[in-house]
Amino acid sequence: MKDDKKRTFRSAGWFARTDKDGFIHRSWMRGYPQDVFDGRPVIGICNTWSELTPCNAHFRQLADHVKRGVWEMGGFPVEFPVMSSGETNLRPTAMLFRNLISMDVEESIRANPIDGVVLLTGCDKTVPALVMGAASVNLPSIVISGGAMLNGKFCGQDLGSGTDVWRFSEEMRAGRMSLESFMDAQTGMSRSVGVCNVMGTASTMATMVEALGLSLPHNAAIPAPDSRRLTMCQLTGRRIVEMVHEDLTLSKILTRPAFENAIRVNGAVGGSTNAVIHLLAFAGRVGIDMTLRDWDAFGRDVPTLLDLKPSGRFLMEDFYYAGGLPAIVRALGEKNLLNKDALTVNGKSIWENCQNAPTHNAEVIRPFDKPLVESGGIAVLTGNLAPDGGVLKPSAASDHLLKHRGRAVVFETIEDYHARIADPNLDVDETCVLVLKNCGPKGYPGMAEVGNMGLPPKVLEKGVTDMVRISDARMSGTAYGTVVLHVCPEAAVGGPLALVQNGDMVELDVPARRLTLDVPAAELAKRRAAWKAPEPPMQGGYQGLYVKHVQQANIGADLDFLVGCRGSTVTRESH
Ligand code: FES
Repeated sequence: MKDDKKRTFRSAGWFARTDKDGFIHRSWMRGYPQDVFDGRPVIGICNTWSELTPCNAHFRQLADHVKRGVWEMGGFPVEFPVMSSGETNLRPTAMLFRNLISMDVEESIRANPIDGVVLLTGCDKTVPALVMGAASVNLPSIVISGGAMLNGKFCGQDLGSGTDVWRFSEEMRAGRMSLESFMDAQTGMSRSVGVCNVMGTASTMATMVEALGLSLPHNAAIPAPDSRRLTMCQLTGRRIVEMVHEDLTLSKILTRPAFENAIRVNGAVGGSTNAVIHLLAFAGRVGIDMTLRDWDAFGRDVPTLLDLKPSGRFLMEDFYYAGGLPAIVRALGEKNLLNKDALTVNGKSIWENCQNAPTHNAEVIRPFDKPLVESGGIAVLTGNLAPDGGVLKPSAASDHLLKHRGRAVVFETIEDYHARIADPNLDVDETCVLVLKNCGPKGYPGMAEVGNMGLPPKVLEKGVTDMVRISDARMSGTAYGTVVLHVCPEAAVGGPLALVQNGDMVELDVPARRLTLDVPAAELAKRRAAWKAPEPPMQGGYQGLYVKHVQQANIGADLDFLVGCRGSTVTRESH
């Protein structure tokens, strides 16, 4: 740590004053000895605790352990709440609120006497929302995740959060699982505090922040109830104080090489497609030139080494015991698939942190010559059905469907899908392509995780478990299937997806990265002339603002006026 005892930190603008305003700032804090206002770093602990976000319900304890570390290093910790988002409870979709939470985070940090910030993140959207908000202020910032829950257990088998829900739901709909067993399984699935225990979006994003260098090594995989998670909180609290002394701001970590590392790591762990949108949004906040194509360029040849659900067999707990993310990073580095000099929050490069990381279980973290999937990563598809791109996760798809031509069965909305999918008269078989419209950022609104729409019962009854599905929606990171997502432009703004009709032929060619609607241009022009934009479900309030300003998924689905960094300066006093 630099000896910068003479440096004046941002918080001194509040607490070091000897006038009326300084009196007000100190006096109303209450209960602290005067010497905490001696110019020491003030550390904000941004907490997404909420009982309505059950994955983050243990965060008060985590915050207490962060505080220990801050006090130890001579800092002054102040915890503050921001809006939380629980994936399982929020309607119409938690993604609608990611950008709102990021505004809460940004304004809370900037408006307060804070010199550095610890971001306490867990359930899916709490990770990107906090990083996006902090990135737009650019103070020293460090992430500590809540960790994943223990392996689920049911009838002697391990259960993966979400992933096995989708499987059980299909089994029950196909008549192979009783309602009683289905209800029993739910109690065995979520056995401890923490986020989903598969490589879903929460664990993917915890992995992404570690790969970006925004957290201490091993943050991604230490299980939520493991005492080492509490230790990491304390170490994180210690480290943020040092970061303030070193002026190690977030933009010094979130560099282009760091993003490239994260994209490769996503391929190596079989991460969620949601990471694509969130990292594009991060890049927008810090002004890094990153495009959807970078996901294909950097992730394409990365094999998936981690054998974790939903792509593989194991769960997050197993990942930690097998060596955690440092072991994966080491494997990438040894194959020259890593920008080794990328800086991390502990002041060391990612390679210094991971070059000697051991692998303890080669079944879970597989070697390069025996990967789970040869070409992992995210496939970015373009073509006349997705001029601005769509994505597919090859590791979660079926090999035999990666090149497929089929007849479209179209659902205009998610309600239309629910109303007709189980209809025995629905003209569909396993060779068809299910197409879902109006579930994108503006159309839903909020881009719901409905892209992995369940198969028609009459197809399931034949024992078929996958079909090609295409939409402008997202998919839960816990889900799987040959599912094309994030099709841009979305249907609600008149993208070609809006023009697809029942019976059209659609061609998916993942190796060639193409998605084609086989309809003559003249016919498409006729349909476009007759197309009318759907009415948004709500005109006013936050939803109204969101629909007006949300950008398309291929550039991160941020609100247009939130893109960029606005810094930490506030010149006016409040009284
Ligand atoms: Fe919270 Fe999956 S529902 S992490």
